[in-house]
Formats: sequence, structure tokens, C-alpha cells
Amino acid sequence: MNKIRIAIFASGTGSNAVNLIRFFENDPAVEVAFVLSNKEDAKVLKSSKDMGVTALHFSNQQVADGTFLVDLCTKNSIDWIVLAGYLRLIPSELIQTFKQKMVNLHPSLLPMYGGEGMHGRNVHSAVLKNKENKSGITIHFVNEEFDKGEVIAQFHCALSPQDTIDDLERKIKYLEQTYFPTVVRGVILS
Ligand code: GRF
Repeated sequence: MNKIRIAIFASGTGSNAVNLIRFFENDPAVEVAFVLSNKEDAKVLKSSKDMGVTALHFSNQQVADGTFLVDLCTKNSIDWIVLAGYLRLIPSELIQTFKQKMVNLHPSLLPMYGGEGMHGRNVHSAVLKNKENKSGITIHFVNEEFDKGEVIAQFHCALSPQDTIDDLERKIKYLEQTYFPTVVRGVILS
């Protein structure tokens, strides 16, 4: 039986991309076909390559071209796209082609702290500024509205008044590393 092929899009460090690659390494049903980044020097490209996964770099101009991305995914027989710290807008042609087959990971409890500019430590800093007593991660489908696709799963962490951005980042990373791959596999195979 052919495996389900996923493409991972990432722009930065890639701790989640690496975790997904490891998780699916010997999976009987799912495989990572390639990792794509819009940043040539992104750590995620080197890490993926080191793990034996095809690592592709394309310019911001190329990744803004929906036809280009749809062709790339079609040629590589991609079934699902997983966004893991991908910071560019997804062209609507790609969203339409991968309707309910494109998943994003967001480091807050959406709908709180989502939308324009809400990524990485910006999110954590806003959460702490508002003295929230919890935060967490959201795994959701991608639709045309930024951070507003149907929620697949959320996981919480408690915050204490003493928590710094580094503390919150650590808690979020823990949730991501623990839950993201399993949820991705679950939704793909459901
Ligand atoms: C993660 O916190 C994820 O929630 C968000 O971007 C960050 C990416 O981190 N979408 P990494 O590049 O996977 O380390």
C-alpha cells in the first residue's frame, strides 16, 4: 500500500519539523516527502537534510505563487501539508487544493492571540502582558482566514505570575513536542 505523503512547510528553527520527521521515520502508513522553507539559511533545511529528508528552498516570490506550489505538491504526490512555524501567507489556490488536508500549529489557545503578527515570542509576550493564568497550543485546519480554520485539538499549560517569556516558551515547546505528531497522524488517518 502506498504511504500517505506529507510536505512540511517551515521558516525557522524547525524543532517541530524535526520532531515530525523522527516520528514518521518508520511509520507504516505516513511519510514525510519533503520540507520546504522560504528561508535559504533556515536551520530547518539543514536539519531535514541531515536526517535524509529532501529539503527545498524557494524564494518569497515563488512561495507566493499558488500555481507553483500546487504543481510542486502534485508532482511530488503530496496528500497533506503540515505547517510548522511557516511564516508566509499561504496562496488561496493551495488552500483550496488542500482543503481539510492542511494543518497548522499555533502557540496559543486560539481564537486568543491569533492573527497578524501573532507568532513565536510575540504571542508569549502578549499572553504574559495580559496576566493570563493559562496558555497552550492549537492544532487546526488552514482556511482562507488567518488562524481561523477549524480546531482539531488544543492542549493547555498553567501559568504562574512569576513566569517569564522563556518559561512560557518552554511550556509551549513541551506541549508541541509531546502532542503535535500524534495529532497530525490521527487526523491524517481518521
Ligand atoms: C512553534 O512555536 C509553532 O507553534 C509556531 O512556530 C513555532 C515554530 O518553532 N507555529 P520551530 O521552528 O518548530 O522550532
